[in-house]
Amino acid sequence: MKILAFAASNSRTSINKQLIAYAASLLGTDMVEIVDINDYEMPIYSSDLEQAHGIPEAASRFLNKIEAADALLISFAEHNGNYTAAYKNLFDWASRENQKVYQGKPIVMLSTSPGPGGAKSVLSLATGSAHYFDGEVKASLSVPSFYDNFDQGKGELKDPELKAQLKAALAKLETN
Ligand SMILES: Cc1cc2nc3c(=O)[nH]c(=O)nc-3n(C[C@H](O)[C@H](O)[C@H](O)COP(=O)(O)O)c2cc1C
Repeated sequence: MKILAFAASNSRTSINKQLIAYAASLLGTDMVEIVDINDYEMPIYSSDLEQAHGIPEAASRFLNKIEAADALLISFAEHNGNYTAAYKNLFDWASRENQKVYQGKPIVMLSTSPGPGGAKSVLSLATGSAHYFDGEVKASLSVPSFYDNFDQGKGELKDPELKAQLKAALAKLETN
């Protein structure tokens, strides 16, 4: 089974990337390919740009990665209750090529933030809309107060309850 994993953040020090790396380690790193959305950077979507130059090739590369995977693992960073501009832009361009961006794949969606909300707002947005983009959300988990609940030195969740919830969520991908 091939799982494509990424954080929906373009931060080099992303806490969602740290959560993805930990989740990948729980799944077994040979099963998981982690990509960085910075590798699919494109100009801000505009219909004018699209008409003049078409869709940038990075959108196809991203869609091809999803197509080649059996399942997806995504951790969402929250900016003002929403997607980061970087992920929204990537998603918008990709959706211009194929509105079914998630291409029928089973998905586990995570989110984390430094605050007690754990980026629940963007997670709810992502889980609630995935079906419009042909994504099948198998499980989701928000990790609140990242710096309290995650040991950055060890690269793992400290809280046993959250750890158990993450393992249970990931198991939904493996049993797919
Ligand atoms: C413009 C901006 C808006 C933010 N809005 C929220 C928010 O609505 N909710 C939240 O929990 N954190 C918010 N934060 C804090 C982010 O959760 C924090 O920067 C986090 O590290 C982002 O995840 P990342 O490190 O994976 O990129 C915001 C940060 C920025 C820069």
